[in-house]
Amino acid sequence: MTRVVLGVSGGIAAYKACELLRRLTESGHDVTVVPTRAALEFVGAATWSALSGKPVTTDVWDDVHEVPHVRIGQAADLVVVAPATADLLARAAHGLADDLLTNTLLTARCPVVFAPAMHTEMWEHPATRANVATLRERGAVVLEPAEGRLTGADTGKGRLPEPAEIFEVCTDLLARGTATADLAGRHVVVSAGGTREPLDPVRFLGNRSSGLQGYALARTAAARGAQVTLVAANVALADPAGVKVVRVETTAELRDQVLGAAVDADAVVMAAAPADFRPTGRSDTKIKKAADGSAPAIELAQNPDILAELSHDRPHAGQVVVGFAAETGDDTGSVLDLARAKLARKGCDLLVVNDVSGGAVFGSPDNQAMILSADADAVDVPFGSKAALAHAIWDQVAARWPG
Ligand code: CTP
Repeated sequence: MTRVVLGVSGGIAAYKACELLRRLTESGHDVTVVPTRAALEFVGAATWSALSGKPVTTDVWDDVHEVPHVRIGQAADLVVVAPATADLLARAAHGLADDLLTNTLLTARCPVVFAPAMHTEMWEHPATRANVATLRERGAVVLEPAEGRLTGADTGKGRLPEPAEIFEVCTDLLARGTATADLAGRHVVVSAGGTREPLDPVRFLGNRSSGLQGYALARTAAARGAQVTLVAANVALADPAGVKVVRVETTAELRDQVLGAAVDADAVVMAAAPADFRPTGRSDTKIKKAADGSAPAIELAQNPDILAELSHDRPHAGQVVVGFAAETGDDTGSVLDLARAKLARKGCDLLVVNDVSGGAVFGSPDNQAMILSADADAVDVPFGSKAALAHAIWDQVAARWPG
């Protein structure tokens, strides 16, 4: 069983850490909650103790015979601090050890995640900027806060990232065992979801793409230090922390946003499922049933192939373009034959191939794939999480960037 320390510092978002705690315990982790004294002003020790099934203390002077100020950090596989206030980030950056949480941070040798939450002014203050930079330099993952409603009437950057997102980052770090910022300084563009082509104000042609693989790509790239633009078509998932999310509906909108963002990108990964066809006309009013029982004919036009366009008109040499293909073998060839032909036809550098003959992967948290390229052997990625496949794809992308 993996040991997770959930540090909670004193901000109003402390109540959201209860959901993170639930997710961590329900997925089988042994969680020790270490709140600061200020955190207990927001959510009491009884809540943390009941949800974690363990005693909870803020103090280094409780249970001294068990040496908790050293033992908890040493034994941890992951420490996540949510919310991390400006004060907590400052104390962590300066190595202070004035309570149990900061002692734990000094003794932990495992990956550490900070999920900040504070007012925009505090986040943007040069002191906080410097503390965040110091913590990142030392290898900690400091998530970018989300934008939106803050305590009181104001809005801006500073909200705690969604607990579901913090949980995904933790799960990913526990699976990898280490935090690396090997994509720092790179801009990557990822498309996700399925486009919808409207027929009338209420109907559309669409597909079942959930966006999970594209979101895993965006989240993992951000966790590895990249600047990420995620172009999302009709996806019902929380924004990954620190990722610029652009929402689109149709293939034409997806094309505009992806091509626009790709201009200065080091890599573009087309994980979206764009509709290949669109109705030639969109009715401004709802299409009614005909009295004679006849069905309307829908004329379709072909949409542009964004991946082929990206591959052929690259804004700069060195940009890596990645496509996806869900294939089933047929009498014209095996999955591998068809995928190799698609790689050549599209002109991309890498093609991630899912063999969907045995059942679909849509909406599933897991995936299995092969990563093809024209100039190297295929890389087999065994059945595993979409995050694991995302990491394998970024490894292949990074290997193609010139030194
Ligand atoms: N793609 C795209 N633009 C489209 C359709 C697809 O950029 N209009 C991208 C997808 O994002 C994916 C890749 O192309 O990365 C493969 O999509 P697929 O539907 O398998 O390709 P098609 O060209 O439609 O091939 P097929 O003839 O097998 O349908």
